[in-house]
Amino acid sequence: MSALTLYLPQDSVVVAMGADAVADALQVAAATRGVALELRRTSSRGLFWLEPLLEVEVAGVRHGLAAVQAADADSVLTALLAAGAPMHPKAIGPVAEIPQLKRQQRQIFSRAGLTRPVSLDDYQAHGGGRGLQRARTLSAAAVVEEVLQSGLRGRGGAAFPAGIKWRTVQQAQSASKYVVCNADEGDSGTFADRMVMEGDPLLLIEGMKIAALAVGATQGYIYVRSEYPQAVATLRAAIAAAEAAGWLGEDASGQTFHLEVRVGAGAYICGEETAMLESIEGKRGTVRAKPPIPALAGLFGQPTLVHNVLSFAAVPGILADGAATYQAMGMGRSRGTLPFQLAGNVRFGGLYELAFGPTLHELVNELGGGTRSGRPVKAAQVGGPLGAWVPLSDFDLPLDYEAFAARQAMLGHGGVVVADDSVNLGQMARFAMAFCAEESCGKCTPCRIGSTRGVEVIDRILHKQDTHANVALLHDLCDTLLHGSLCALGGMTPYPVQSALRHFPQDFGLTPEEAQP
Ligand SMILES: Cc1cc2nc3c(=O)[nH]c(=O)nc-3n(C[C@H](O)[C@H](O)[C@H](O)COP(=O)(O)O)c2cc1C
Ligand code: SF4
Repeated sequence: MSALTLYLPQDSVVVAMGADAVADALQVAAATRGVALELRRTSSRGLFWLEPLLEVEVAGVRHGLAAVQAADADSVLTALLAAGAPMHPKAIGPVAEIPQLKRQQRQIFSRAGLTRPVSLDDYQAHGGGRGLQRARTLSAAAVVEEVLQSGLRGRGGAAFPAGIKWRTVQQAQSASKYVVCNADEGDSGTFADRMVMEGDPLLLIEGMKIAALAVGATQGYIYVRSEYPQAVATLRAAIAAAEAAGWLGEDASGQTFHLEVRVGAGAYICGEETAMLESIEGKRGTVRAKPPIPALAGLFGQPTLVHNVLSFAAVPGILADGAATYQAMGMGRSRGTLPFQLAGNVRFGGLYELAFGPTLHELVNELGGGTRSGRPVKAAQVGGPLGAWVPLSDFDLPLDYEAFAARQAMLGHGGVVVADDSVNLGQMARFAMAFCAEESCGKCTPCRIGSTRGVEVIDRILHKQDTHANVALLHDLCDTLLHGSLCALGGMTPYPVQSALRHFPQDFGLTPEEAQP
């Protein structure tokens, strides 16, 4: 009996595209031919336009077959058994040579598409575990210093220097401390956190374990949104595997770190760190006033290190290769890489991990191939539902926190949603206000009441009612939201609204002069 090993991703996005049916059909086709098929279900490479992407190794090189469906199983197996390299209409050659993959600088996603998510053997064979190994040889203060020197900034949105947060938690005096991973991932068009959790969960566990050793925490939580059931299941399986291997629980050196998954109930505001802590404590997810900051009084009032999935996932690489290697990538004060998530109306949508610095034009038009509809790109919303709409005239802006902030925009979690010229940004501004009204936790007046009034004011502008007075009122309202809100939900809703008004006044039925504050 001949034998064949194939690789097929099992991330939820690929399963939604029919990967399980492809797997079943391949098994049936192999059995019919008397072929012993080993089908390894890996993570996804994030090249979504090619999924389900089936791979076969030929002379040490992975070759791909793109957009494989169950109906292709017979012809694919015939081709694979007949030739060395796959000769099939869906064959696309060596996967590593795909321009959109070759151009990337994958650090966090270095194992994407290569390994089976919960396999410790695969993880270690592809470089996993080295960060923790090195961290164990250093003092806690030296680990914190390494994170500080790397220049890593939080990837959840605010881009606060990670090392400073670590130092604050480490120096806090308390009998118990916590490490909490914010995996609520509520931003539109974002999926990188989910890809880590479903595809390389041991990386997140390793990052959290290093953090726990450094700051002196014995308990950790991963707060995952309820819409991510596969991430929850994979994380739980990975935690069990890590416990069995002695990475979690009480380890050989006598250090204890327990990790648990907590599932959110589905509210955007539960991604805000203090609302998330309330939710983990079993309360309703409303925002806490700061100070005190969570680093000093967080979960159950104890010092707590809160980070996004991508922040923790960057840590093993920083420890393994040294802060200087990470620091060498990027531009300005934006060091290292950011996994950009390219979504919306774009031809080659997916995950692009790049060092900070390339332009939006390179990302959207060169790598992303422009719109999927074939119509001209009009704008991209960068950084989630509270991010600004960036017009084509700003597509030469480098992807860097400060460069975006200087243009009243933000990178946030790296989500980029592309819109073509058929999208009306007046309607999108209305949607931003309606989103804020829907998701407001209700604690402060500008956001709770202002967002509802904002929808009404935009409606009046769109219906040409008393335009001049209503434009002035909208700017005034945005100013109140920006400066008077307790958290960034209300505080940033003006970004998509005012950027739409500034760059696309015609979509509100206004001239550029009429749209001015
Ligand atoms: C309304 C709102 C929603 C947020 N949602 C998320 C989220 O889903 N995931 C996340 O990591 N951070 C989110 N944040 C940012 C967190 O409050 C916090 O800054 C972050 O988790 C800290 O991690 P970092 O240092 O790794 O960025 C949100 C903030 C606000 C105001
Ligand atoms: S800005 Fe909105 S979400 Fe934030 S605290 Fe105020 S009411 Fe709650």
